[in-house]
Amino acid sequence: MKILVTGGAGFIGSHVVDAYIERGHDVVVVDNLATGSRDNLNPKAAFVEIDIGSDQLGAVFAEHAPEVVNHLAAQIDVRLSVEKPLFDAQTNVLGSINVLQNCVDHGVGKFIFASTGGAIYGDAATLPASEEQTPRPLCHYGVAKYCVENYIRLYGTLHGLRYTILRFPNVYGPRQNPRGEAGVCAILTGLMLEGKTPVLYGHGQPLRDYVYVGDIARANALALDAGDGEVLNLGSGKGASVLDIFNGLKEILAFDQEPRLEPLRPGEVENNYITGDRAAAVLGWRPEVELRDGLARTVAHVRREA
Ligand SMILES: NC(=O)c1ccc[n+]([C@@H]2O[C@H](COP(=O)([O-])OP(=O)(O)OC[C@H]3O[C@@H](n4cnc5c(N)ncnc54)[C@H](O)[C@@H]3O)[C@@H](O)[C@H]2O)c1
Repeated sequence: MKILVTGGAGFIGSHVVDAYIERGHDVVVVDNLATGSRDNLNPKAAFVEIDIGSDQLGAVFAEHAPEVVNHLAAQIDVRLSVEKPLFDAQTNVLGSINVLQNCVDHGVGKFIFASTGGAIYGDAATLPASEEQTPRPLCHYGVAKYCVENYIRLYGTLHGLRYTILRFPNVYGPRQNPRGEAGVCAILTGLMLEGKTPVLYGHGQPLRDYVYVGDIARANALALDAGDGEVLNLGSGKGASVLDIFNGLKEILAFDQEPRLEPLRPGEVENNYITGDRAAAVLGWRPEVELRDGLARTVAHVRREA
């Protein structure tokens, strides 16, 4: 199958590309390298360095004629979305509409979207949050993702575009940027390897749903053949605290300092974890990599890159 992956030079996108290539598909990556890197690119994938909002995107679709588009390109920094909502919407809303419109103009069969289970539900009334829960995002990034989900449904209704919307939890693993604004596992690993004292907000208590990136890539591969018209949480159904992550890494790295504990920052959700039951029923997917094992793989990668 010919698959165009936007954001394929990024953390999750590059693992999705690897999963597609491993399964014998033909991949073209579209990425402007805003946060992605050439080092992440699978050498068997074609690469076009371009912004998803560009007028030239149509020429890329015309040349490569993808049958499926997996749209992961985004600005992913929640705090930046609050500080610069226009920039966030430019990439995450307008850029996404440009990708969707090109799908219709160039006869793409299916669209797979990287949405968020972490930022779409807000302060969920029940945990783990399921797809039944009405999204009430508490940041611009979450609103933008929800907005695009609605555009996707509209493109499905108006143009018959087949789609699967995947709501990711807190994804972690190799290639996540330890100096980025998102990704507590990579950030803590980076700080601890440099011998610096990490700050744990919410006194390390907030629960999040950590799922290994290889498991998320597998769900994206399964969505090629299943899940049409579905919105699917890719959660583990369980929360782990930031302190759990710190302690896991502390043991793996034999780190000898204690963290600094501070209150939650404004706008941060207390607890968030999401279901994965619907994805299990529809895609036959469940996360497989245990947290401890995934953290060890993350540490090994950050060490290699240091
Ligand atoms: N990391 C998580 O835990 C998580 C959770 C929920 C959803 N997601 C979603 O998964 C997707 C991938 O996130 P990630 O963690 O791999 O982040 P990332 O920053 O590593 O990947 C995003 C990629 O998109 C590219 N990009 C950004 N703006 C672009 C533009 N205007 N044109 C073309 N390319 C552009 C970047 O260069 C990068 O390669 C995003 O859509 C994100 O919202 C991630």
